[in-house]
Amino acid sequence: MDEHAPRTGAPDVDVVLLGATGFTGRLAAERLAVLQQRARSEGRPFPTWAVAGRDRGRLDAVVAALPPCAPPPEVVAGVDVYDVGSLARLAARTRVLLNAVGPYTETAPAVIDACVRTGTHYADLSGELPLLRRVVDGFHEPARAAGCQVVQLAGWEALPPDLVALHACRAATGAAPGAWGPGAGASVQRVDVSVRFDQVPAGLRSLSDAVSAGTLASVVEILGDPDAGLVGDPAGLLPTGGHGDDTAAAAVRRVSPLRLRPFREGGRLLGPAVPVAFLDPPVLHRTAALLARESGAPHTPARLREGIDHGPAGGAGALLRLAPQLALAAAQRGLAVVVQLPLSVRTGLADVVRRWLPAPGTGPRPAALHGWEWTVTATAVATGGRRGTATLRGTGHPGYTATAALLVALGLEMAEPDRDSVVAGVVTPGIALGPGTSRHLSTPELALLPS
Ligand SMILES: NC(=O)c1ccc[n+]([C@@H]2O[C@H](COP(=O)([O-])OP(=O)(O)OC[C@H]3O[C@@H](n4cnc5c(N)ncnc54)[C@H](OP(=O)(O)O)[C@@H]3O)[C@@H](O)[C@H]2O)c1
Repeated sequence: MDEHAPRTGAPDVDVVLLGATGFTGRLAAERLAVLQQRARSEGRPFPTWAVAGRDRGRLDAVVAALPPCAPPPEVVAGVDVYDVGSLARLAARTRVLLNAVGPYTETAPAVIDACVRTGTHYADLSGELPLLRRVVDGFHEPARAAGCQVVQLAGWEALPPDLVALHACRAATGAAPGAWGPGAGASVQRVDVSVRFDQVPAGLRSLSDAVSAGTLASVVEILGDPDAGLVGDPAGLLPTGGHGDDTAAAAVRRVSPLRLRPFREGGRLLGPAVPVAFLDPPVLHRTAALLARESGAPHTPARLREGIDHGPAGGAGALLRLAPQLALAAAQRGLAVVVQLPLSVRTGLADVVRRWLPAPGTGPRPAALHGWEWTVTATAVATGGRRGTATLRGTGHPGYTATAALLVALGLEMAEPDRDSVVAGVVTPGIALGPGTSRHLSTPELALLPS
């Protein structure tokens, strides 16, 4: 690795949002502006922040469209993810870089490399599991050595389930305030994560109200990836390497296979996680494995189940509500089959699908972005039967408005000057947020409620 622009002085910006002109990037910029104004009106300090990207005109337009915020964010133009010099200069200027430039498979490694070289914390929203595995393999040790955190899947997938599972495990193992708990001696046997949509805006119309062009492009990238076979492997992000049949991976696959079937828990009916069930489990198992490693304890995987809460089990109503989820589960099974096809077939398929993708920068209609209320709750049961629970309550479209707010909350937490228990490396959203309750997850729009 050649050295380009190592950090020479103190960074002059706390948080940089790269890709602020994209669909999700614009929502993240809005969230930062709202939080800044709120802090200002309450007399609290707020970190300095900047928006970055390729084109000054487009970035200026994003800033001009922000809700009132003073001072406005700095605009850093001329940053192209294919230009390592521009990335190095950007990373050297900031303490935290939030990356909303997708699709990530091709472009994120260069941005992560620039951050690790300068010891800058990094977070993104990528859900391309083969990429995540390569980032673990290529950057965990360098990031540890640099003392920084690299966090992926820091939106709807997989921040809420990872965070509440971690807090439920801490409660179940009787962890002291500020201590991690799971993996630190007392093992957790079961973790159940349930997602409830308490309010959904009326008139959601089509696929475009559910996913943006950028997300669809990322799914296509997975199709064409040589390592696409990782999709569906709950052990795919373990520190020991998810490819092989090592003991830890085998234990995770045996104890906690990926579930697409509905199940009953506490008199409730739970259907498969949406939009995809295969992203969260590898992250939650990585959290437990990394924390076990930190404490020097063996990693004993818990049985993990995750599902959408469809209300009381039994009765025709529950079955009707479950029907669309079963269709989604069937689609996910189909994807699991497709990723096992020969690479040449998958790349051909990806080329065909690419032609049908909507224009970059587009996504759900404004009416679909608001009017949501949801909760993500985890219950953990430790050896000996002690239970712990934790809930994250949120508002906004899970995949976009809320995802942007989650990424921003993580970025603000990573920018805090006096953080406890910082585990460096390629870590998970829960680990990056730390064992305490972040004040950035104590807002009207997003609130963590530990038990
Ligand atoms: N896991 C989750 O929960 C979740 C949720 C939402 C989104 N996502 C992911 O987030 C990513 C972004 O999605 P989106 O819908 O917001 O995408 P989008 O609207 O297409 O935005 C893409 C952004 O990338 C920028 N960009 C593209 N090429 C660039 C380059 N060479 N150098 C610098 N910037 C470049 C674009 O800037 P220009 O204006 O210069 O073109 C734009 O700001 C996707 O990968 C998606 O999968 C994940």
